[in-house]
Amino acid sequence: MPEYKLVIEGGRALKGETQVSGGKNTSLAVIPATILAEDPCLLDNLPDISDVRVLEKIFSHLGAKVSWNPEGKQMGIDPSNLTTNTVPFHLSQRMRASYYLMGALLGRYGYARVGYPGGCDLGSRPIDQHLKGFRALGASIKEEQGMIVLEGKLRGANINFDMVTVGGTINVMLAACRAEGDTTLTNCAKEPHIVDTANFLNRIGAHIRGAGTDTIRIRGVNKLRGASYTVIPDQIETGTLMIAAAATRGDVVIRGCIPTHMEALTAKLLEMGILVTSQDDVISVQLRQGHRAIRLSTQEYPGFPTDLQQPMSALLTRAVGTSEVIENIFDSRFKHLDEMRKMGAKSTINGRVAYIEGVPELQGAPVYAPDLRGGAALVIAGLMANGITEIYNPENIARGYEHLESKLNALGGSIRREPLELDNNNAISI
Ligand code: EPZ
Repeated sequence: MPEYKLVIEGGRALKGETQVSGGKNTSLAVIPATILAEDPCLLDNLPDISDVRVLEKIFSHLGAKVSWNPEGKQMGIDPSNLTTNTVPFHLSQRMRASYYLMGALLGRYGYARVGYPGGCDLGSRPIDQHLKGFRALGASIKEEQGMIVLEGKLRGANINFDMVTVGGTINVMLAACRAEGDTTLTNCAKEPHIVDTANFLNRIGAHIRGAGTDTIRIRGVNKLRGASYTVIPDQIETGTLMIAAAATRGDVVIRGCIPTHMEALTAKLLEMGILVTSQDDVISVQLRQGHRAIRLSTQEYPGFPTDLQQPMSALLTRAVGTSEVIENIFDSRFKHLDEMRKMGAKSTINGRVAYIEGVPELQGAPVYAPDLRGGAALVIAGLMANGITEIYNPENIARGYEHLESKLNALGGSIRREPLELDNNNAISI
């Protein structure tokens, strides 16, 4: 039962400096990867987000010793004495990245029993490519009462993914690290967190080459040791903060990021007439006057990230002209536009294409966060709008952003949490 709603008082330009947290999607891959190590690992720069806390629960269920200091961003993991290789459905369904426990447990022990993953409802999200890779490595796979059971002594193989898949690339890479012999993965995803996960795996003794390209070569080893590792900053949080700065006609300096990861977004913001400059690990975003509509097509990295399509659409609601947004990665990633219409935004959807006609102003309204990045998009819309916006289901946002409200408030935003009023039959009253 959700405990709170977000209340946003809009119309204030964001100004000042902020700091990016450690990457969500890299952390959700590197933490499971520690299971492949036979000694303790120490991870640093992990974000304090609910998906990381779910992984902590999964690790405790497995019998791993976990010491997690959210403030210090450090997590010590000793995976050397797991007591089970089973991840029950009530835990696996709480996030998408629980699927990484398949590759890690299968790679380390030759056996894994994992419930189907959950995650944002973005349309169908099968894992057939993950399973195709595990089978090619020699695992037998069956389904028992909704649990996926994977078993086998793994041998290297040549695997070509039928489509570019971030999760599939990482998951099969995890398993292949401990396979006997060489594995070549082709048609791989190239996201920064794939490179980060490969760097961690090599740090604990794996032999991986080519991460970040479409061909990854892995030489299996029979033992991986513990190590310390610091994960990269969050590419999508960086982009969300850049978009929020522009959307509120603000002037914001974002520190602790990797500008080269942001090139597709930076190019689009410049095309819209927004000033973006960068140096070392700092990006500055400034917008004084209006911004132009664009055509936006989501692609695998290094193309425009699907995870920034939703935050970007908030910015586009007030662009001069009509923007065309094509979502090529997921079947259904426009639910946030229905909510923005309640705020006066104008958009029409035709399958995977949305047309957003810019309007001069948005008006605050009560809205629902449909998923993680849709929720972030509604926060940005609330910051842009005149008046008060209430966001219900804000837990979705806490899954992937560390302290987003306090970061935006420190930049001049006005976002607070309020307990939900329940009417006399215990329903949420709006
Ligand atoms: C990862 O999801 C991210 N999640 C997503 O971020 C991100 O949007 C996505 O990659 C694309 O960048 C995590 O890293 C935990 P895919 P994933 O496999 O692995 C289809 C966020 O907001 N597909 O690259 O699920 C799939 O349905 C989240 O942080 C298959 O058909 O993405 C989708 O249409 C949302 N079969 C497309 O490929 C498969 O076996 C890309 O999916 C695998 C995927």
